[in-house]
Amino acid sequence: GFSRRTLLGGAGAGLAAGAAAGAFGRAVAVPGQPHQVSLGAARVDFHGPHQAGIVQPPQARIELLALDLAPGATRQAVQELFKRWTRTAGDMALGEPADSHENQIALDAGPSSLTVTVGLGATFFDKLGLAAHRPPQLAPLPDFPQDAIDRSRSDGDLLLQVCADDALVAYHALRVLQQLAAGTAGTRWQMSGFSRSPGATAQPRTGRNLMGQVDGTNNPKPTDPDFAAKVFATGPDWLAGGSYLVFRRIRMLLDNWEQLPTDRQERIVGRRKSDGAPLSGGTETTPVDLGKQDPDGSLAVPADAHVRIAAPASNGGAAMLRRGFSYSDGVRPDGAPDAGLLFLAFQADPAHGFVPVQRSLSRGDGLTTFLRHEASGLYAVLPGVPDGGYLGQALLE
Ligand code: HEM
Repeated sequence: GFSRRTLLGGAGAGLAAGAAAGAFGRAVAVPGQPHQVSLGAARVDFHGPHQAGIVQPPQARIELLALDLAPGATRQAVQELFKRWTRTAGDMALGEPADSHENQIALDAGPSSLTVTVGLGATFFDKLGLAAHRPPQLAPLPDFPQDAIDRSRSDGDLLLQVCADDALVAYHALRVLQQLAAGTAGTRWQMSGFSRSPGATAQPRTGRNLMGQVDGTNNPKPTDPDFAAKVFATGPDWLAGGSYLVFRRIRMLLDNWEQLPTDRQERIVGRRKSDGAPLSGGTETTPVDLGKQDPDGSLAVPADAHVRIAAPASNGGAAMLRRGFSYSDGVRPDGAPDAGLLFLAFQADPAHGFVPVQRSLSRGDGLTTFLRHEASGLYAVLPGVPDGGYLGQALLE
């Protein structure tokens, strides 16, 4: 199912020796669970067929770190790094301290649903003499009309996606993993983002973005029969069970957006702002009826509405799993907020996911006027790590 976390009640299996769930943080009520369990004690398994941090709904906090290999870094050095990252990320996901570079930033907290997800950029393969293994799907994304991409905050040989329901836990993990890379890979860029905190709403519900919209409703669901086919890569062999991650830093022109009356904002997206219900009727989860006409003969979901232009039906079935986070980085020189969406989308193949959809959006989407794509990246997300294995093993051995 889509259940986000392994929530542990009491001194459950998997917790660090001597630690009881109640020792960590605030207790949250979990529907269907008789006892309150602590937010900090919740953990997501690091090991499995897929990396953690893909199918889990967004945690409260994200740290994104892109790294470039040090000049002359060898395949063997990268192998050693991936072994260190595997061991340490696995330990931290259990709430255990890192065995080196432990900085005590998260000393008092449980793992708080920490996930660490590792991806490889196209340049990784060239630098390590692995060009023959570089999948054609990692070819650079095309330029789209209206793009304003800053390359210094884009791309990278390696990407780390670190998410947790506690900001200190996320930063702790980021910092440890960054230091473990010293000598082999150095930071290219780093960004932070946030999402709804668990427990902030009376019932768990779809989060909102900084435009105020309910965002994430019509995502593929892990229970859909074709979910894996849409989200996970089947090849090359070393990538089977992995995925492709498209990253876009999309600034929102909030000063302009917020001047629009709500009904105008709703027609631009095609959904009601209050509850995310489609303008064709029903509730948040009612399928959008793109053909529906209002009594005056106009389309209930306008021709340039975001959900119409982005829909699989409008793009030859193209689909992806969106897992975005908001960001807010202060004020720009022009006084406008430097805020928006760290758009992250996982897919089996970007040519049947992000690329055709973004091509359509950049031409005909009403939302485009209120957005600036300022950074971009495409990464092969490594398959999950079995017990005893390490990240990238099938590629590097
Ligand atoms: C749907 C907002 C960028 C692809 C939606 C929805 C909202 C939204 C509110 C409706 C609720 C939902 O189904 O999640 C935004 C905002 C963006 C943005 C604010 C930029 C800051 C993008 C980009 C893509 C994309 C760059 C892909 C290229 C989609 C898709 C859907 C969707 C595929 C579902 C459409 C459907 O089948 O109903 N977006 N979006 N969005 N968006 Fe975006």
